[in-house]
Amino acid sequence: MKSRLLLRPFLAALSVISLTGAISAAELTLYTQRHYEFDEKLHQLFTERTGIKVVVVKAAAEELMTRLQSEGDRTPADLFLTADGAGLARAKQAGLLQPLPDPAIAAKVEPHLKDEAHHWVGLTMRARVIYYSPDRVKAGELSTYEALAEPQWRARVVARSSSNAYNQSLLASLIAANGPEKAQAWATAVRANMARPPQGSDRDQIRAVASGLADVALANTYYLGLLATSEDAKDREAAAKVKVFYPNQDGRGTHINISGAGIVKASKKAEQASQFLAFLLSDEVQGMIAENTFEYPVTKTAKRSELQQSWGEFKADALPFSTLGEKNAEAVRLFDASGWE
Ligand SMILES: [Fe+2]
Repeated sequence: MKSRLLLRPFLAALSVISLTGAISAAELTLYTQRHYEFDEKLHQLFTERTGIKVVVVKAAAEELMTRLQSEGDRTPADLFLTADGAGLARAKQAGLLQPLPDPAIAAKVEPHLKDEAHHWVGLTMRARVIYYSPDRVKAGELSTYEALAEPQWRARVVARSSSNAYNQSLLASLIAANGPEKAQAWATAVRANMARPPQGSDRDQIRAVASGLADVALANTYYLGLLATSEDAKDREAAAKVKVFYPNQDGRGTHINISGAGIVKASKKAEQASQFLAFLLSDEVQGMIAENTFEYPVTKTAKRSELQQSWGEFKADALPFSTLGEKNAEAVRLFDASGWE
């Protein structure tokens, strides 16, 4: 009698084990360059909804691509995510990605934010803008990225190192627009205009303008949202002291970039991987991203957050990410030659 009573909970426990065993068998492995805390919450939500566990391997895009190449068919990776469209274009070029099994999931994504053969799709968008101090700079003094090379900005500019993909894609866009010679001259002159040698993160450039160390900075839009909503009061104060300027509005438009993903060629889970991308592209999740990481939505149907709307509308440079990918090596070379560390 006693033993039979004990057996029942034991059997119940067994069935729970087999159930969770079945759930954890369905998992997706992401090789990702993204570094935002909010991503973990999105992964948890995806797991709650689908039962598919998300395993994350975080590293620099270069390192992840090298890994994908050396692992070949034995790679555990199902998805490759970057915070730079040029990296996705290069991964496609290297034959590391497969087309989406169902291109319809990317139908809502703006055409210039996805690969035409659906080897990758943008998930979030960002603009690389000029931040300025309204106390020391009038918006009317600002115009283009090119104009930051002028002598009036001597010792007033800050930017991070040229080893950063965001800066490399910006320089690639200047090579595409103006040719390599002018692009190199631009990098040399902007480096000469810096208030300090390139260092720190995008956030540190915004902080430098807020503290008075510099008057203008190059950095991505969402970092202002992250500072403005930070738990650190100093960061909230810094965010309040700078303004966003969208360069090149009278010409080709402001340089934008995407964070996006492609399904790894060797993955046998293309269907689940596609389900994950469809989840990230839903209006619900695109809206959550706009409110939490402050990256812009990539779909025509999702709304920008109020904070994003307060930064104003802008025209984006429509240069294809494949061109940024093709010009990446040249951008790295020109940065080296320019002395921008
Ligand atoms: Fe970033």
